[in-house]
Amino acid sequence: MAINKFMILVLFQIIFVSKSVVSTSNFSLAKLNCRDRCGDIPIPYPFGLTENCSLNEYFLVTCNETTHSHRPKAYLMNKSIQISNISLDGQIRVLQYIAHDCYAPNGTSVSENIPWIDLPNHYTINNTANKFTIVGCDTYGYVYGTRGNRNYSTGCTATCNTKDDLLEGSCNGLGCCQTTIPKEITSVKVVSYSFDNYTDVNDFNNCGYAFVVEEGAFSFSPANLTSLRHVKKLPMVVDWGIEKKNCSEAQKHMSSYACKSRNSECFDPSNGSGYRCFCKKGYEGNPYLPHGCQDIDECKDPSLNNCERNCENNEGSYKCSCPKLYHGDGKKDSRGCYPDKSLELKLVAGIALGIIALILAACWAYFELRRRTLIKMKQTFFLQNGCLLLQEKLMKRNRSSLEMVKIFTSSELKKATNNFDENMIIAKGGYGIVYKGVLQNKKIVAIKKSREVDPSQIEQFINELIILMQVRHRNIVCLLGCCLETQVPLLVYEFIGNGTLYENIHNKDKSRFLSWEKRLKIAAETAGVLSYLHSAAPTPIIHRDIKSANILLDALFTAKVSDFGASRLVPMDRAQLSTVVQGTLGYLDPEYMQTSQLTEKSDVYSFGVVLLELLTGRKALSYDKPEEEINLAYFFLYTLRKDRLFEILEENIVCDETREQIMEVSKLAKKCLNVRGDERPTMKEVAMELDTLRLGGRNSWARVEDNQEEIESLFGEGLNSISFSDDCSDGITVQDDSIRSYY
Ligand SMILES: *[C@@H]1O[C@H](CO)[C@@H](O)[C@H](O)[C@H]1NC(C)=O
Ligand SMILES: *[C@@H]1O[C@H](CO)[C@@H](O)[C@H](O)[C@H]1NC(C)=O
Ligand SMILES: *[C@@H]1O[C@H](CO)[C@@H](O)[C@H](O)[C@H]1NC(C)=O
Ligand SMILES: *[C@@H]1O[C@H](CO)[C@@H](O)[C@H](O)[C@H]1NC(C)=O
Ligand SMILES: *[C@@H]1O[C@H](CO)[C@@H](O)[C@H](O)[C@H]1NC(C)=O
Ligand SMILES: *[C@@H]1O[C@H](CO)[C@@H](O)[C@H](O)[C@H]1NC(C)=O
Ligand SMILES: *[C@@H]1O[C@H](CO)[C@@H](O)[C@H](O)[C@H]1NC(C)=O
Ligand SMILES: *[C@@H]1O[C@H](CO)[C@@H](O)[C@H](O)[C@H]1NC(C)=O
Ligand SMILES: *[C@@H]1O[C@H](CO)[C@@H](O)[C@H](O)[C@H]1NC(C)=O
Ligand SMILES: *[C@@H]1O[C@H](CO)[C@@H](O)[C@H](O)[C@H]1NC(C)=O
Ligand SMILES: *[C@@H]1O[C@H](CO)[C@@H](O)[C@H](O)[C@H]1NC(C)=O
Ligand SMILES: *[C@@H]1O[C@H](CO)[C@@H](O)[C@H](O)[C@H]1NC(C)=O
Repeated sequence: MAINKFMILVLFQIIFVSKSVVSTSNFSLAKLNCRDRCGDIPIPYPFGLTENCSLNEYFLVTCNETTHSHRPKAYLMNKSIQISNISLDGQIRVLQYIAHDCYAPNGTSVSENIPWIDLPNHYTINNTANKFTIVGCDTYGYVYGTRGNRNYSTGCTATCNTKDDLLEGSCNGLGCCQTTIPKEITSVKVVSYSFDNYTDVNDFNNCGYAFVVEEGAFSFSPANLTSLRHVKKLPMVVDWGIEKKNCSEAQKHMSSYACKSRNSECFDPSNGSGYRCFCKKGYEGNPYLPHGCQDIDECKDPSLNNCERNCENNEGSYKCSCPKLYHGDGKKDSRGCYPDKSLELKLVAGIALGIIALILAACWAYFELRRRTLIKMKQTFFLQNGCLLLQEKLMKRNRSSLEMVKIFTSSELKKATNNFDENMIIAKGGYGIVYKGVLQNKKIVAIKKSREVDPSQIEQFINELIILMQVRHRNIVCLLGCCLETQVPLLVYEFIGNGTLYENIHNKDKSRFLSWEKRLKIAAETAGVLSYLHSAAPTPIIHRDIKSANILLDALFTAKVSDFGASRLVPMDRAQLSTVVQGTLGYLDPEYMQTSQLTEKSDVYSFGVVLLELLTGRKALSYDKPEEEINLAYFFLYTLRKDRLFEILEENIVCDETREQIMEVSKLAKKCLNVRGDERPTMKEVAMELDTLRLGGRNSWARVEDNQEEIESLFGEGLNSISFSDDCSDGITVQDDSIRSYY
């Protein structure tokens, strides 16, 4: 019910606001006993045809009916201002002469007219409803206006060369131009001039015209170039007001206050002409007459009311018990109306739906927010617990103190890397960015900033981290700690100073120093650590991305396999994508590529390719070489078949002493590169073979550079390469201080 009443109210409001057109009814708009017409022109009060019938002399209208052949004409005051219409809204239409300027074909002036109009007080020329217009093809003209004692003028130019240039209805310079007139002018003079007395266009135009005309009352047509000659006057809109006063001033003197009707309202002038009166809403008629504003009987005009039945007219409004929208079926309500159930229902349903939608949206927002915070919490939870687990595990090993796993603070690492300065970047890859950092204790570290980790990957990341911490091996880059305060986990590694194996092989300046002996050592060490990962570690670990770029070398050319597990930090698909894109395609096991079945033998294949790099100094894929040489593995197998191996070997490693070993390593490499994974040797077999080669050949080409530590490791590794270095920071205790700085 409440809704019904509300609706009715709203509807009433809408109706009254939108009701703008008031029907003209039959009662007189003139003063009692006064004529209200001059011919067919209505003359409403305050205008009148006699002094007693008009408000004052300014509204006196003269009606000339003496010429019976013509319709009577109305003039303002006793002047020659002809009126065509009077509106109580505050405007009259005045017929004003056209200025013209005509020439004979030889260029002499034939006739000229410069009309002007000087409006009496209370009248101003409306500047938005009128336009100054020029018509002609050799024409320019001005409009001169006066406001108070100031003069204003404006003008425009209309030209054309042929009649064909002219466009029906277009008034923008071709044969016709228009411009706005100055504001609130009370007198106006229009003049038309010609440039060349129409000598160039006299075959179709020899007159120019200028006039101020009601916008919309004149539409240009090419015919007007001549037809306007016979038109004398055109309508112009003139605003009028009662007195040069505003409403509050006028209401102080009720005797002279013009809004006489009880139901009238005063309207303030925008400027110039004076105040005006209007009938209040719901009334119509003449506000200037004592009983001028009459109630509108809305019930008589269906377009004015909204009633189905029982329309009841009131003063200024109406009321009805059953608005039209409320018809419908069902039972009558208390007022005897048929309530529109369907509308009511629709309304209720609409509101309900809206509320439900709102609630749903709020719920969704709430749960979404919760979900996000949960994910965030989970993430930090996993990270923190992961690291705790890590510490626990490492403490259980009982091998060393807590120092083994250090949880770095982000500020510590920020400081170490000079706020992750670009100059500190050592490497960039699909996995993230590696920075060089100097810790407070002057220890140099490598800090890997992973790509943002998917929350679902966090747990896996922790596992990876734990494995990485477990497999401490002399030939694996040592993880010193991690930092979990930042959005992405930061991993802190020992810093390996001599670059990657890739650099050392493929950079000509460096490769000179990479003797066969060193190469063999690197190969054996790498094979050893891979063998350990595959078989000796608690759960076999497949590196998946063995390549020369992932083998780091320290000052003693000890191989340090890096990027271990890091690729698994990245989602699987991304890792593969980046692997392909980054061109480690050359290392990829073809069987694995075909079957997607990852086995330890894939690492064997990749290692085989690294062996080839060591042997030949060529890159795994070299696109600058002829087609058959692009893939190093295929090319190597090809040369081996053709017995041309020694043509592609690195020059500075081949000598009589090494020849035999090189042949052996080549054979080993060939086995590693077998297309069938089953037929490749295991990493353990490879490692043993390489160790044997190395130890066997040791006496003949050993050099002095091996230090005590290395010899130790040489003997230790063959059988038990799983030796954990107790502590990365100084596990490999190097006597030489100059070398210490590399760790
Ligand atoms: C208007 O008034 C005239 C004369 O007063 C009358 O003859 C005519 O019927 C009225 N028309 C209407 C619609 O009231
Ligand atoms: C106008 O009204 C005044 C008095 O109200 C009267 O004396 C006068 O004669 C009237 N004039 C005309 C022209 O009716
Ligand atoms: C009425 O119009 C005619 C012809 O235009 C003119 O001769 C006459 O003087 C006018 N009468 C008045 C009272 O203006
Ligand atoms: C026109 O009206 C003014 C003032 O109303 C008056 O002074 C003037 O004499 C009148 N002129 C004519 C010709 O009636
Ligand atoms: C005259 O004014 C009335 C009232 O404003 C209007 O309805 C009518 O259309 C106008 N006539 C002309 C020819 O402008
Ligand atoms: C121009 O033509 C008009 C009429 O066509 C004529 O009266 C006038 O004398 C002519 N003037 C000259 C200078 O030819
Ligand atoms: C144009 O007409 C004016 C006035 O008749 C005259 O003074 C002028 O010389 C004419 N100019 C040309 C170019 O005919
Ligand atoms: C000029 O006429 C327009 C349209 O009739 C009207 O809206 C506007 O109020 C008028 N300007 C003045 C100053 O009366
Ligand atoms: C305005 O123009 C009229 C004639 O056009 C002139 O008499 C009057 O002095 C001018 N007024 C000003 C302020 O220039
Ligand atoms: C302008 O020309 C058109 C078309 O011939 C005509 O209908 C219209 O009345 C003319 N306008 C004037 C103001 O003469
Ligand atoms: C009316 O005009 C007077 C003086 O011109 C001014 O003081 C007053 O503020 C005006 N009132 C309004 C409502 O504009
Ligand atoms: C009205 O006119 C006066 C003086 O001409 C001007 O100062 C004022 O700004 C005008 N007001 C509006 C609303 O145009």
